[in-house]
Amino acid sequence: MIGAPITRREGRAKLLGQPLYTDDKILPGEIRGVTVRTHIPRGILKGISFGEGIPWEEFTVVTAADIPGKNLVASIVHDQPFLVEIGGTISHPEQPVVLLAHPDRSLLEKARRAIRLDVEELPPVLDIESAIEKAQVIHGSNNILKEILIDKGDPGPVFCSAVKVVEGEYRTGAQEHAYIEPNGMLAEVGREGERLTVTVYGSLQCPYYVHEAVKQLFGLPGDQVRVVAMEMGGAFGGKEDYPSVNAGHAALLAWKSGKPVKLIYDREEDMAATTKRHPSRTRIKSAFDRDGLLLALDIDFVLDGGAFVTLSPVVLSRGALHAASVYKCPNVRIHARAVATNVPPHGAFRGFGAPQSLFAIERHMDVCARELGLTPLELRRRNFLAIGDRMSTGQVVKETVDLEAIVSRALSEIGYEEKRRSFDAHNSSQSPIKRGVGFSVFLHGCGFTGGGETYLASVAGVKGLPDGRVSVLAANTEMGQGKTTVFAQIVASALKLPVDMVDVWSADTAEVPNSGPTVASRSTMIVGKLIEDAAYGLKQSLIQQGLLEMTYTPEEFREAVKTAVARHGSLKCYSQYHKPPHIVWDDTTYKGDAYPTFSWACYAAGVSVDMVTYEVKVDDFVAVQEVGRVVNPMLATGQIEGGVAQGIGWGLWEEVQWKDGRMVNNQMTNYIIPTSVDLPRIRVAFLENPHPAGPGGAKGIGELPMDGPAPAVLNALAHALGPIRLDEIPMTPERILARLEEADRG
Ligand code: MTE
Ligand code: MOS
Repeated sequence: MIGAPITRREGRAKLLGQPLYTDDKILPGEIRGVTVRTHIPRGILKGISFGEGIPWEEFTVVTAADIPGKNLVASIVHDQPFLVEIGGTISHPEQPVVLLAHPDRSLLEKARRAIRLDVEELPPVLDIESAIEKAQVIHGSNNILKEILIDKGDPGPVFCSAVKVVEGEYRTGAQEHAYIEPNGMLAEVGREGERLTVTVYGSLQCPYYVHEAVKQLFGLPGDQVRVVAMEMGGAFGGKEDYPSVNAGHAALLAWKSGKPVKLIYDREEDMAATTKRHPSRTRIKSAFDRDGLLLALDIDFVLDGGAFVTLSPVVLSRGALHAASVYKCPNVRIHARAVATNVPPHGAFRGFGAPQSLFAIERHMDVCARELGLTPLELRRRNFLAIGDRMSTGQVVKETVDLEAIVSRALSEIGYEEKRRSFDAHNSSQSPIKRGVGFSVFLHGCGFTGGGETYLASVAGVKGLPDGRVSVLAANTEMGQGKTTVFAQIVASALKLPVDMVDVWSADTAEVPNSGPTVASRSTMIVGKLIEDAAYGLKQSLIQQGLLEMTYTPEEFREAVKTAVARHGSLKCYSQYHKPPHIVWDDTTYKGDAYPTFSWACYAAGVSVDMVTYEVKVDDFVAVQEVGRVVNPMLATGQIEGGVAQGIGWGLWEEVQWKDGRMVNNQMTNYIIPTSVDLPRIRVAFLENPHPAGPGGAKGIGELPMDGPAPAVLNALAHALGPIRLDEIPMTPERILARLEEADRG
């Protein structure tokens, strides 16, 4: 079963329109909710007034004053209120202030517009530069939400003596997740005498994050809160922290109205108010010897975190840990900061900060190659990490990593050497189209950063069903990445059963243990390993009970499970994550094994630029990666194709337009994402190298494909356009024009 390209389990039902998404689930008597938000980036809320001509007595109205428990969203740091209080600070222009519910949706919209917020405006901080300059202090004493320092060797003196020092600054913009289904929640509150129970159904990645947030909002014990993950139309990290906010809102309205309340964002509200990828600014100073060997790296990595801490510490952490990428370097200093601004909090987005810092280093390596008179390939080759080398945190590369093989495969697939020659010849002609070929080499740490997995101590299980089949018990959600299918394959393989004998339960906190959030590409490798172990445990228990022999047929297994369930009422086996003793990590010094292992890749792109319109076309794309054993080649290929599309979009077209801290192009008509006509066929290849710690040898894969496309495409653009400043994404036609004019001016 491991390695079988079986079709996605929920695929047929999805094609037939059968699954229930949050908006499709109807609870009897349910009414609708909406959110009234602030409209200025910074200030004080003085009052709320309810306009004329609205039958307010028919409405359920919730303000901060109604909140029964804590008015703070449970997260890494508890600093974000569910609702702004009167007299409280307004920290960004989309902050929720009032919640309304009513059965009539058009009246609800009228009512939302009839509410006026009385505010006192304060000067805002709207970008990374102003946050660092501290013209206004909006967080702590220095606007810093989180700061990390990674220190190895002593770069300082090296810069004075090195043969060559190259400096650069690189920027990346915010990115909207553009999942198919916007955020949505449905909540109901039950009352048995004094006992309150809150149930939330929704589109979410982390059932137990929402569980904790709702618990604290109402001050309830855990068994009185239930969170059910509904069918989900994609997430990409965008349903990792925000669902704790809107679940709380829906629950407050349900609690106050006594009716089930559905709170579904339309596209405009979703794009404007919920999280996006952190914009970044990376400054790199690098020193080389005369052979092009990297001697020192000094990296200043800054993320715009937005108004609250939310997930910035973990996004920053992953960005910092990937900043030195696949290169061996004896002296490294990485100073990473997430700064506060008065924009809606930025959050998780496929790659968690790594795409940002990897964009910078991979673009920088091409710039350095030019300065050193080496080809991009030769410079990288001389500096690749190999087994036994120490990374920036001191982590020793323990498993075989054959970057040479990965790069050779990608470059031969795309015809790199041939294209470099023929494009050079073509570009020296008068053709109005210029062509280029470029590539990026990168890695992605599998599972949670540093001590994250230890802290989570996830539990997953396998359960015998009365009909003799088994079911996987895990809180991980299906967002299109294929966990339902992959979990079934892992258990079927462990138990030597046909895959249809394995069920995968949906994530419902009343039914499944806390196997952690569905983030950081951790489901297959980390949770998959737990369920594989739990499956072995279940088999062992059947053998010990004398119900099963060491070798068995699926029919015998089915009978054994049936008997065990009938005899004991239930048959369950759980497994909990324990840090393997060889993994050592110190969160205070940022030294040690940042990740249990890494996936590795090389992506190559061929591009053409129209020198009249500056439109860029990606003509060819090759993605080669080593992700351990591939559990399902069809789904894995889909993961790569989708990630590459998102990466190319981020690199070329997707531009969030900001005005006073708000996204103003918050529609699918003016926020441009690639469609299939904008993309070439993406050629995907896996080099398999089974990893001992993964189920069946698998490593993480989900976020990896987001890291490589933007730098590969911009490196190809650099080949096409020559030495102009290609230091910022999205590299839109307007920016290309500006950079060409700048180069002309000398
Ligand atoms: N693929 C699809 N189709 N839809 C998604 O929302 N999210 C990505 C990635 N692939 C996503 C996706 C992100 S952000 C992560 S962290 C991983 O899937 C999570 O799933 P995994 O742990 O199963 O890899
Ligand atoms: Mo993915 S950004 O870790 O949800």
